Amino acid sequence: MSDTQTNKTWGGRFTESTDAFVAAFTASVEFDRRMYRQDIDGSIAHARMLARVGVLTPEDCEAVVRGLEEIRADIERGAFEWSVDREDVHMNIEARLTERIGDAGKRLHTGRSRNDQVATDIRLYLRDAIDAILAELKRLQSGLAELAMREADTIMPGFTHLQVAQPVTFGHHLLAWFEMLKRDCERMIDCRKRVNVMPLGAAALAGTSYPLDRHYTAQLLDFDAPCANSLDAVSDRDFAIEFAADAAILMTHLSRMAEELVLWSSAQFDFVDLPDRFCTGSSIMPQKKNPDVPELVRGKVGRVNGHLIALLTLMKSQPLAYNKDNQEDKEPLFDTVDTVRGCLRAFADMVPALHPKRSNMLRAARRGFATATDLADYLVRKGVPFRDAHEVVGRAVRLGVETSRDLADMTLAELQQFSPLIENDVFEVLTLEGSVAARDVLGGTAPNRVKEAAAKAQAWVAALR
Ligand code: ARG
Repeated sequence: MSDTQTNKTWGGRFTESTDAFVAAFTASVEFDRRMYRQDIDGSIAHARMLARVGVLTPEDCEAVVRGLEEIRADIERGAFEWSVDREDVHMNIEARLTERIGDAGKRLHTGRSRNDQVATDIRLYLRDAIDAILAELKRLQSGLAELAMREADTIMPGFTHLQVAQPVTFGHHLLAWFEMLKRDCERMIDCRKRVNVMPLGAAALAGTSYPLDRHYTAQLLDFDAPCANSLDAVSDRDFAIEFAADAAILMTHLSRMAEELVLWSSAQFDFVDLPDRFCTGSSIMPQKKNPDVPELVRGKVGRVNGHLIALLTLMKSQPLAYNKDNQEDKEPLFDTVDTVRGCLRAFADMVPALHPKRSNMLRAARRGFATATDLADYLVRKGVPFRDAHEVVGRAVRLGVETSRDLADMTLAELQQFSPLIENDVFEVLTLEGSVAARDVLGGTAPNRVKEAAAKAQAWVAALR
């Protein structure tokens, strides 16, 4: 035992106590205590493995396991006193364990360091977080696929440059969102593979002289494998960076959906009604119903992008192996997890409850010459080269602009002044229904294609584990 005055577990070689400010400055318990469950699971697996290879007696192992389970219960009912003096979640739990069970508690840290311990905790934590995110994503995607099936025949204007371009179906638009989220889901599943590798056994940096069975520990903790290199295992946080990057892309997608919901729920578009329970009013303007939830989701992309940059910058130029810098990985990571989960939950609740205003969408599609391309295609079918057809229709549109009418509102005689090839059958292609039905190609907006795609989307979601 040390004869110094320090109050730290590692205080043996110190001759004075840590400065009070430095203790608080270097402590992480305020935020890393949220990993208590993973820390306890990791310690229990480590203890069982130590007992299996004969480093810990079965009695000590049982005392450790029981003690840790009691501590877990204490934490869960709010009866655990966290101490900043004990620096982090790891030392808080270990010190309490030793208070409870005596020397067996001090033997738990054999063949282990906080460096491989914390790296393990973060990976376990992130694995759980990814699973929770995937569950919310699945809920949102299933809501989207169902809504898309219901709205496969609903016609709305499709936009490029936010100018009316061609008519599309609302279901088609919703399935575009679905595709974006499908890739996000695949990215998360892929990221999970690189998260699910176990640092334990790397010890401080070089491995350990105890005969650890790392495969056994990995198996107990449901890791796919132990990390192959101890220096790498304790030092890299690339899995967290990868998660943050995937999260940033996902949030970017949510922000695009959010932006469209904000536009569509405005009086100018008036395409959808958001349920009142997802909106708020104004304290001064009685008529207001603000789309707060989509706006907030749109805004929250900022912090997630910031966290990605924080993690990248934190890792940059770090020499091997563990450095205290890495303690700074947790807050950005945790906030990314909380933000993504919250945004997905809000959207998964809100999207299926959207109320589409079909007649407004249809009316909007009738304005803006959405079928101009169809008229050009009609002329092409009659032998006119596309570039000439484009020119002819452009002139017809100009007349429409000048007289405030859509192409379908003109008489046959009026249309024929632009091309004698135009006949009475032109009015079929100028209808919105005809226009969308004609986009009958794989991936196109024709209602039958959209129904097919929605069914495929539903099956894809159902096959997720
Ligand atoms: N709180 C530390 C962290 O978050 C735990 C590891 C500390 N290791 C050390 N050698 N100081 O990274």
